[in-house]
Amino acid sequence: MNSRLILLTLLVFDGLLLRCARPTEKEQQTSDESLYTGSIACKNCHERVYQDHLSAPHHLTSQLPNSVSIKGSFEEENNIFFYSPQLYVVMSNAHNIFSQSLYSHGKKVKTKSFDLVFGSGVRGQTYLTWQDSSLLQLPIGYLTSVNMWANSPGFSNRPIFNRPITGRCLECHSTFFKKVLPEKRPEHFSKKNFMLGIECEKCHGAGKKHVDFQQENRQLKEGKYIISFKNFSQKQQLDFCRSCHGGKLIAKKPPFTFKAGSDLNEFFNTDSVKTLATPLDSHGNQYGMLSQSKCFLQSNMTCLTCHQVHENEKGKTEVFSKRCMNCHTSGTKSFCSFKKLTTTQLQQNCIQCHMPEKNSNSIRMLLQGEDAPTPARMHVHHITTYPDEVVKYLQSIPMSKD
Ligand code: HEC
Ligand code: HEC
Ligand code: HEC
Ligand code: HEC
Ligand code: HEC
Ligand code: HEC
Ligand code: HEC
Repeated sequence: MNSRLILLTLLVFDGLLLRCARPTEKEQQTSDESLYTGSIACKNCHERVYQDHLSAPHHLTSQLPNSVSIKGSFEEENNIFFYSPQLYVVMSNAHNIFSQSLYSHGKKVKTKSFDLVFGSGVRGQTYLTWQDSSLLQLPIGYLTSVNMWANSPGFSNRPIFNRPITGRCLECHSTFFKKVLPEKRPEHFSKKNFMLGIECEKCHGAGKKHVDFQQENRQLKEGKYIISFKNFSQKQQLDFCRSCHGGKLIAKKPPFTFKAGSDLNEFFNTDSVKTLATPLDSHGNQYGMLSQSKCFLQSNMTCLTCHQVHENEKGKTEVFSKRCMNCHTSGTKSFCSFKKLTTTQLQQNCIQCHMPEKNSNSIRMLLQGEDAPTPARMHVHHITTYPDEVVKYLQSIPMSKD
């Protein structure tokens, strides 16, 4: 089958990989893992938040391998990735042991297991394998838009099995990993002591003290010993989301030390992200894009103005449009000045004309036989008017007859 011969390369964030903190400082753990309880301990008292969280991309962003978490197919015909007719990787599932095997001229050369799954699969996934106590990226990843296995991010069109995963990568995609052998480069991690997913305690801090306290004081209606965002300043709120959604920040301190509420500048060189004009880097730079928008510059908005962070609201255009109208109220001067559509029509979708999906600069795939890589699509967080999208939108909606 021809499509099997298509080579896909997801060229993502090489830069992010290399930019880890210099090992000058004595490496330290964020906090003692014994103070973490895991999200399940929050379920009893915060049932609704807990249930919502289970379907959020944050929760699903790193998982153990199983036939649900891995999005690629293990069925014959669909489980091979060809670099050339003689060189290919076969993905196999033998009684729930998932692995990638490299074949050269019909002979099996190497086999490595899928040990961790990275990426919820909204756009794609990468798979990691343990080698002693370091983590390596497997050559084959998965691309959602084409529903196919793909050559891993930043890899050239050949199978690479020895690409190390850094603490910075883990920091953005998990709750914590305990470092071992701190003097080693690339970094080494404990195979037992980690918490996958961006869990409650990644954002609210280790929860044991809170859980113990609330259990012993059931009558209390206020929460103690837990990070709350209620009294955060605009900068604290933004700094927190920006720690992962702020692009290629260069770290000043070891991974897993930044916590919600802290000043980002103490942990990262925030000048290290160039403020480019659109189209901007998308592997996590919503902050950079938003901060160029008039909406942002002329209000005190944060990410939470539009995002309900516990929930998966992907594709809920009308919900997001309502949030725009909290400031751009219909019937006032601040509402959309576009006259070709009625208020009702405009209200359904502020997003496509003002925050459309655009090509990502950093998440791109190379199809064999093509010169330029094909990019994945992300919503632009630079809020303004995109004339091409306006035309497309007008063509896509049924216009009234009169
Ligand atoms: C024994 C019950 C109990 C458990 C278990 C529990 N909480 Fe709470 N929590 C409360 C109560 C009561 C409050 C105060 C009322 C409220 O804000 O919901 C609270 C408040 C909070 C707040 C809000 C603080 C604020 O003022 O904004 C956060 C955040 C929070 N808890 C997170 C967690 C996390 C994370 C876990 C699991 C590690 C957890 N809770 C486990 C009872 C509990
Ligand atoms: C990605 C970060 C993140 C994760 C993961 C997360 N929260 Fe939150 N949580 C927040 C933020 C931000 C707010 C403040 C929301 C606001 O003010 O709009 C919040 C608010 C809360 C509140 C108080 C307001 C409310 O919505 O009830 C509670 C309680 C809470 N979180 C509990 C939890 C629990 C329990 C989990 C895990 C099941 C969890 N959170 C996971 C970021 C997070
Ligand atoms: C620890 C790093 C981290 C922090 C802190 C964080 N995020 Fe995320 N966020 C991610 C990652 C990684 C993803 C991609 C998850 C995936 O699909 O695999 C993500 C996904 C999302 C998505 C959904 C993306 C989609 O594809 O639909 C939204 C919305 C979002 N984050 C908003 C926020 C907001 C708002 C905050 C601050 C309150 C925040 N995040 C804090 C790392 C983080
Ligand atoms: C600065 C924080 C950060 C770092 C470092 C980072 N990522 Fe991400 N990653 C994100 C965010 C945020 C997203 C959500 C998409 C976006 O905003 O571009 C994401 C998306 C992804 C996705 C696609 C998930 C999906 O289904 O949409 C994969 C796979 C991924 N990252 C893997 C990695 C790997 C592997 C590394 C390390 C080599 C890494 N990332 C480093 C923040 C980060
Ligand atoms: C917290 C309030 C707030 C929210 C929420 C908000 N905006 Fe704005 N927006 C503003 C302000 C203030 C301005 C600048 C004054 C003006 O042009 O009305 C602005 C400007 C704009 C502009 C003009 C931009 C330009 O480059 O000329 C557009 C378009 C816009 N907003 C669309 C949106 C859309 C779409 C949403 C929802 C996705 C949204 N806004 C959410 C406050 C907000
Ligand atoms: C004015 C409203 C608004 C603000 C403020 C805002 N976002 Fe978004 N964001 C959106 C909309 C609308 C989408 C598209 C949602 C959809 O339809 O799936 C989106 C999507 C995302 C996604 C999913 C990736 C994608 O491109 O589809 C991430 C991640 C995200 N936002 C993170 C953030 C972060 C981090 C901040 C703060 C720096 C932020 N957003 C601020 C409106 C906003
Ligand atoms: C069909 C595309 C489309 C939709 C849908 C749409 N807009 Fe607009 N909007 C435009 C265009 C085009 C302009 C520029 C108007 C002009 O100059 O005639 C504009 C102008 C604006 C402005 C004023 C910009 C300025 O110059 O100050 C704001 C604010 C705005 N829109 C907000 C919204 C909000 C909020 C919604 C959803 C309720 C929305 N728009 C829906 C196309 C659209």
